[in-house]
Amino acid sequence: MDVLVIGNGGREHAICRGLKLSPETGKLYCAPGNPGIGEIAELVPIKVEEIDAIANFAAEKNIGLVVVGPEVPLCLGVADAVRAKGIPVFGPSKDGARLEGSKDFSKAFMMKYGIPTAAYGSFDNREDAIAYVKKEYAAGRGVVVKADGLAAGKGVIVAANEQEALDAVEICFDGAFGSAGARVVIEELLIGEEASILALTDGNTIVPLVSSQDHKRLLDNDMGPNTGGMGAYSPAPVVTKAVMDEVTENVLTPFLKGVQAEGFLYRGIIYAGIMVTAQGSKVLEFNVRFGDPETEAILPRLESSLFDALYKTATGKLAEAELVWTEKPSACIVMASGGYPAGPLSKGHAISGIADAEKNGSIVFHAGTKMEGDTLTNSGGRVLVVANVGETMEAAVAGAYEAVRKISWQDVQYRSDIAKRAFIKR
Ligand code: AMP
Ligand code: GLY
Repeated sequence: MDVLVIGNGGREHAICRGLKLSPETGKLYCAPGNPGIGEIAELVPIKVEEIDAIANFAAEKNIGLVVVGPEVPLCLGVADAVRAKGIPVFGPSKDGARLEGSKDFSKAFMMKYGIPTAAYGSFDNREDAIAYVKKEYAAGRGVVVKADGLAAGKGVIVAANEQEALDAVEICFDGAFGSAGARVVIEELLIGEEASILALTDGNTIVPLVSSQDHKRLLDNDMGPNTGGMGAYSPAPVVTKAVMDEVTENVLTPFLKGVQAEGFLYRGIIYAGIMVTAQGSKVLEFNVRFGDPETEAILPRLESSLFDALYKTATGKLAEAELVWTEKPSACIVMASGGYPAGPLSKGHAISGIADAEKNGSIVFHAGTKMEGDTLTNSGGRVLVVANVGETMEAAVAGAYEAVRKISWQDVQYRSDIAKRAFIKR
């Protein structure tokens, strides 16, 4: 069956690779893709926001399954547009995608269905927001300030003190995150270790994938600004069986009840970013799509057919799917352009060493790369994601870094401590 994947990052490269390895996949298309994806799929020059063009292309080419990578087209309603053509889609409808598209909506959903999350207030004016911040600090609590709408991972400010929190409120209402900041969610600061729990759901059944942990900060030792993610590993030891059971019972099951009660057609991924705190696991955010770079760590561990899992999810038959994972752990390292994430990015430099890097069994996923003539260059913030599956976590990390060190371009940056938390004695 022919498949169309939407997106152009490392996540979509990992999805395309998994689909290519699945015996059921016929012709594989990706819109718009990137040069790495172009080696295994036919690239289609349609942007992720062009949802009508995507739906029309899928109908014209008689595509049997559309898999949506990023949140932006989901929030624009691409799943509804494709489904209207009678084509199965992996990705929730526009109403379900609001769980990521609006923090205010997402928090209200969590409250309504009893899903544990940080206490919060939601404000559309600065005076009330400022009063709330002052009240929280007076009570001895810290806060996190979040622009309500999609802000590409940049609209969240974890305040170090009251003044930073007040400044963050001003910045949001001054329009630093565009219309995303017209409403501001202010949350209780949670203390603990983060993990990513991704689950497949077709609205009837929910099946967690193997756990993983992302590294949000730019620099080693979790210093520097927040990014889209600088590396990941799987499994995350913080997600013990007890934590997974608790998240299944307190988060995933009520989530499923919630989407059913609200009547969302939710067939895709639910990604719960959780904080494992002394008071139990709490949801930091819901995402309605695969994580990036978590997917580049998770999918190389899947031994069964990715097509089968995604197709059955898209057609409401997830209960019939059987996912088989290797016990072997994995790690992936993000290689980013100089200047990431704040910019300006140091772009357009020739990338060398990828073929050499893959010789030890590592997989090099492309994100922000571009062909300039015959030369592969860096064209975005996150450029490559280098993944390795090993006998042990130590071996996976060592293998990934051995590969990373073979790759170079001018001003490249990456963290040297990915998966460090996997080695903490618990
Ligand atoms: P979000 O996009 O809402 O997941 O926030 C991005 C990052 O900010 C998270 O991955 C956490 O590192 C941090 N963060 C968000 N909310 C909180 C919170 N309530 N307490 C502590 N850290 C948070
Ligand atoms: N890695 C974080 C995210 O995909 O949102």
